[in-house]
Amino acid sequence: MTQTHVFAGKQALANAWYCVALSSDADPGPLKVTLLGEDYAIWRDPEGELVGVPDRCSHREAPLSAGNVKDGCLECCYHGWQFSTGGRCVSVPSSQKGIPIPPRAHLEAVNVAEKYGLIWVCPGAPEMDIPYVPWEDDPSFRRINPEVDIWNVSSTRMVDNFLDFTHFPFVHSGTFGGATDQEVPRLDMLQLDKGFFGYWYDVRASNPDLALSTSGQDEAVVYRKMSSGFSMPFHCRSTIHYETGLVHVLLLLSTPIDDVTSYFTFVVWRNDDFSVPEDEVLKLDKAIAAEDKAMLERLGGVLPLRATELVSVQADKLSVEWMRRFSALVSN
Ligand code: FES
Ligand SMILES: [Fe+2]
Repeated sequence: MTQTHVFAGKQALANAWYCVALSSDADPGPLKVTLLGEDYAIWRDPEGELVGVPDRCSHREAPLSAGNVKDGCLECCYHGWQFSTGGRCVSVPSSQKGIPIPPRAHLEAVNVAEKYGLIWVCPGAPEMDIPYVPWEDDPSFRRINPEVDIWNVSSTRMVDNFLDFTHFPFVHSGTFGGATDQEVPRLDMLQLDKGFFGYWYDVRASNPDLALSTSGQDEAVVYRKMSSGFSMPFHCRSTIHYETGLVHVLLLLSTPIDDVTSYFTFVVWRNDDFSVPEDEVLKLDKAIAAEDKAMLERLGGVLPLRATELVSVQADKLSVEWMRRFSALVSN
């Protein structure tokens, strides 16, 4: 059953951008996505620009995502009405020649953008930016986009997990966590750069066979300097700096389909020599994501946001800060 009672109707959440798919998923569409409990149909118009509309035809409410894209127009599968740029209805096949299209036939389009190889939707009025990733414009870095997955996990629990490094030796013992320290030093939180707030820390990581293509080193243990941070509402970013000078950046994106189901994808930027195939580079991060997914799908519901409902320790400081900001955001 779809649960929407916490996030749905929160205007502050509607005013943010969310990653819903890969750009290539809408070539040409229609693509059905669900965001904050609402379904949308997305396709490319005659100019190749993305259009997103509520997935409900203005005529008899047929799901537009079940239709077809013809010459950049989305044709409803029920009576063939066609919609183009901005959601404008451009054809009603049953109407006699010269009869104008009823003004209410036009659909109200939502904000859609393309960035980092991804499709972003903002169902309200954009008040928060698409997260900032300066390496996108640096020619010494390449970008790699894996597919978008669905996790049976609340976006709140995913952010809590992405900001937390004390689960590494336990959840990630099968990948890189076998060599990480259980005890962590005191955290100093800071503004990492435009848009991301977080902290820097050092990690001693196992480097098993599966990690060799990603780390670019063959020692059993490698050293990483890392940063982790968040950008509201549910965007996280980690940077991994290896001693060799290799920098591996991860944008971790959680999008609430509803309260307890989320799209998940990550984007990698790295300054290697571009010779290792993308699938090889992604092997480690995909295995790590699978470990997190298996862990988090054991937890039900939305992360309790009131400070008194959970016990947190010093090492949870950044997550507690995110919870404080998120609570303030959704309580307005
Ligand atoms: S319901 Fe879409 S054209 Fe009739
Ligand atoms: Fe993890």
